[in-house]
Amino acid sequence: MISESPSPAINAICVCHNFPPRLPVHEVRTSWLTLENTGSRTWEPRTCKVAVLLDGSPLIALELPHSVVRGARVTLHGVFRVTNVVGAHELGVRVSDDNVGDLEPQSATPLRAVVDVVERAATETARLRDRVLETHARCWLPCDGVSWSSDGSIYPNFARDARGCRLTDVEGRQFVDYLMGWGCALLGYSNERIVTAIADALHSGAILTLTHHLMPEVADLLCEMFPLAEAVTFGKNGSDVCTAAVRLARAHTGRPVVLFCGYHGWQDWYVERFGLASAGVPERPDPLLFQFQPNNLAQVRQLLQDHRGRVAAIMLEPAGVLESFQGPAKDADPAFLHEVIELAHREGSLVIFDEIMTGFRYPGGSVQHATAARPDLTCLGKALSGGMPLSALIGRRDIFNSAIGRISYEPTFKGEAYSLAAAREALTIYKEQDVAARIWSIGNGLRKRLNRLCADCGVAAEVIGPPFRMLLAFAEPDGRRRALMRTLIQQELFKMGILTTQNLLLPSIAHDDAALDATERAFDHALRILTEAMEGERFAAYLEIPPLPA
Ligand SMILES: Cc1ncc(COP(=O)(O)O)c(C=O)c1O
Repeated sequence: MISESPSPAINAICVCHNFPPRLPVHEVRTSWLTLENTGSRTWEPRTCKVAVLLDGSPLIALELPHSVVRGARVTLHGVFRVTNVVGAHELGVRVSDDNVGDLEPQSATPLRAVVDVVERAATETARLRDRVLETHARCWLPCDGVSWSSDGSIYPNFARDARGCRLTDVEGRQFVDYLMGWGCALLGYSNERIVTAIADALHSGAILTLTHHLMPEVADLLCEMFPLAEAVTFGKNGSDVCTAAVRLARAHTGRPVVLFCGYHGWQDWYVERFGLASAGVPERPDPLLFQFQPNNLAQVRQLLQDHRGRVAAIMLEPAGVLESFQGPAKDADPAFLHEVIELAHREGSLVIFDEIMTGFRYPGGSVQHATAARPDLTCLGKALSGGMPLSALIGRRDIFNSAIGRISYEPTFKGEAYSLAAAREALTIYKEQDVAARIWSIGNGLRKRLNRLCADCGVAAEVIGPPFRMLLAFAEPDGRRRALMRTLIQQELFKMGILTTQNLLLPSIAHDDAALDATERAFDHALRILTEAMEGERFAAYLEIPPLPA
């Protein structure tokens, strides 16, 4: 009888990895590998260590995301710097376990690969990336600084300029952009009419001692365009006016609590959501901010009841809030909005619509136009001034009159003339043209094309969200696998000249047929690569960029 010899406690095979035969000197690289536990012990993240070795010495430690039982596989990643010593080097992977007794080997080496580290002229992207990594903490680097692809392409990291829906990076590569300046360039980058309006204003200084005449002119336009706008104040960021709205509501009602739904910026009152102390804001004993889910009336009712007499405002993004990168992203529910306003007013609370994203994108120009739901205050930003930095708080005059002087809102830059000139032109365009209808039509067309591609490729995914803010969501129950899928799609879209993150799609009116055709080709390519990687779970062999958050 042949008896099977017991497997060692620590053993592993490398199912696949992304170490290429050649690497440029000193590049930033994400290593991806899939290991199978072929030993007799379960790998526990606490005691089991996986390391990438360079010439036998540890280069980076890779974290196990979960326990890995015998026979199971795990996909790991880590970002490292390629050595600056040119020549052949041995990259290896070692699995070790602190808890294995002295009598047994405590580690296994499932992979050894020789890589040639070669000289390569530094790209502008790599030069800027190194500067940013040293000096600028919160710069968005789409691939955490990874710029080099094994196939010779360069991932986008820094912009040179942008026109229409196309952004050119510092390497001269052109990308069809689906983030559009984080939603500001609804009219396209460098829109001719906006550029002319700014150019015409350049003869004067930007920040003047006296209020520039453009400020009341833009305020008048807003009052004309928004039914309940009787008073207006301006800011630079969306966060400025979100904070001003909350202060105004608290000062007007004399109440502290805010119920909210959606994203309302980065300032102190709102980061309570993420934990004050961790965000660097002094903790306080009693929470003042309470979240409800989109269109969930029962939750709003309950919160109003729980905080009776203390709610200053209900603040919400009225449509398309992304609850996660997997959705849902519900469209506006007019009955919900009307009911919220009714409930709030019955309780003596105000309603603030944050239309920073929906403003000028939603049919009729805003959710309040489309649904006839009338908030007390409204925040606008993003597309308000055709891509220039300007935000506005508009609302009922009596609220402004009662409290605007008390909320200490006096930003130096709020009257900056070039952005006001751009806003006057942008608002004129929004009055003349049905921009939102075009966004809806472009978005719906894109949704149809991408859903058809997914069906053709056999990938269980669909485009979700209202047409002004959509994303491709995978019907994959495993969150870790879903993150690998999203990351691979993003990587391949970059290579095909599409700029997005998390498959987010914010169309602008500058997305022309050529751009949409290019988008379809890029998704076709990305979905095909995805199906290849999914066969046999070979993601690690295809991935090069760091994982997107799950
Ligand atoms: C709905 C909404 N509100 C507020 C903000 C904050 O605006 P800003 O980043 O201009 O401060 C954003 C920004 O993305 C937003 O989408």
